[in-house]
Amino acid sequence: MKILLIGSGGREHALAWAISASPLCDKLFIAPGNPGTAQCGENIAMDVADHAAVVAFCKLQGVDLVVVGPEGPLVAGIADDLRQAGIKVFGPSKAAAQLEGSKAFTKELCAEFAIPTAGFGRFSDAAAAKAYVASQGAPIVIKADGLAAGKGVVMAETLDEANEAIEMMFAGGLGSAGAEVVIEEWMVGEEASFFALCDGTHALALASAQDHKRVGDGDTGPNTGGMGAYSPAPVMTPAMEERVMAEIVRPTLAGMAQRGTPFQGVLFAGLMITPQGPKLIEYNVRFGDPECEVLMPRLKSDILPALIAACDGVLGDFDLRWSDQAALTVVLAATGYPAKPETGSVIRGLEKTEALENVLVFHAGTKLKNGDLVANGGRVLNVVGLGRTVAEAQARAYRAVDAIDWPEGFCRRDIGWQAVKREQG
Ligand code: AMP
Ligand code: GLY
Repeated sequence: MKILLIGSGGREHALAWAISASPLCDKLFIAPGNPGTAQCGENIAMDVADHAAVVAFCKLQGVDLVVVGPEGPLVAGIADDLRQAGIKVFGPSKAAAQLEGSKAFTKELCAEFAIPTAGFGRFSDAAAAKAYVASQGAPIVIKADGLAAGKGVVMAETLDEANEAIEMMFAGGLGSAGAEVVIEEWMVGEEASFFALCDGTHALALASAQDHKRVGDGDTGPNTGGMGAYSPAPVMTPAMEERVMAEIVRPTLAGMAQRGTPFQGVLFAGLMITPQGPKLIEYNVRFGDPECEVLMPRLKSDILPALIAACDGVLGDFDLRWSDQAALTVVLAATGYPAKPETGSVIRGLEKTEALENVLVFHAGTKLKNGDLVANGGRVLNVVGLGRTVAEAQARAYRAVDAIDWPEGFCRRDIGWQAVKREQG
């Protein structure tokens, strides 16, 4: 088969690594890809926002399957345009991608189908939003409705912070994403990322993972796209997984199908495991990044038949095998991330790291310049360790991180602390 993978981050390198290992994969293109994906297939310099160009490329090359990594192209309807052209695509339609594209859409779906989530209100003007906040009290969570690249959530500990966030969003501080604001109850518990492959009707649970969103050790500082992750997440016991499938994932699939917008692709539920049970924080319509970087190394089955089954609506009697090993990834970010990452610095010593046992390196924001590997984004590299326990995976990941010569980069030193604490009892 010929496959086109869309995207350029660590998630896409991990997907390219898994897809290219499949005996069914004869040729893998990645658009636009990065220097890491170039080791798994052929990078194609293409503007993926130009759907007609993507369709034309697929027709010319005889691409059998398109796998869409990031949410942006999905929300922009790339899956619809490919399907319309008769090309098989893994990823939801524009209508179904609203599960990530609009927080208000998801909250209304939860309300309609009794899916557990934080209590909420939706507002299109500041005065009404402030009145609601005053009636609910702090702490409270203020969210821009649309896609805001991880910057659209303000956890307001006081009423002043809440009002400030409301003003910022309605003043256009987040562009059109903040034209509508969702205000939520602040839920307390442990977070987990849960993934399910979906074919419109059936859902197949994947392994669980836990992400670390704050930039600093001890979960301090601003939110990021994710500074590290590990899998499995001990908080997701088999019983909890069954509750999530029964109370959250299956009702969502049924609701989307009933509305005439079935969901096909990977559904990523951001969960809060509260004393009352699992509650949905938000949906994403793609693999998590960096969660994907710890899921793929644990997947023992061939990923391609599963992606195809999702496209073909036959996930019902499908199964996947997972390694018992734990995987943990540390994100190496450029100094200044998330506010203003400094790009262009040279990274050395990667070959030594890649040669270590039970270690994988997935590229994110890197590029080649005059033969050097240089930083080309905020999150630059993912260093993955594998081990019998999260503690062992963590030790291997940090040993590998320390073998990389990149003074301009930084990472958190405590990825996996919750799981390691649990393991140590
Ligand atoms: P989101 O972009 O919706 O995933 O939110 C980013 C992060 O904010 C989440 O991973 C949570 O840590 C936190 N968060 C969002 N909504 C809530 C909520 N209602 N209660 C508690 N924490 C939340
Ligand atoms: N790691 C969180 C995300 O991919 O949104």
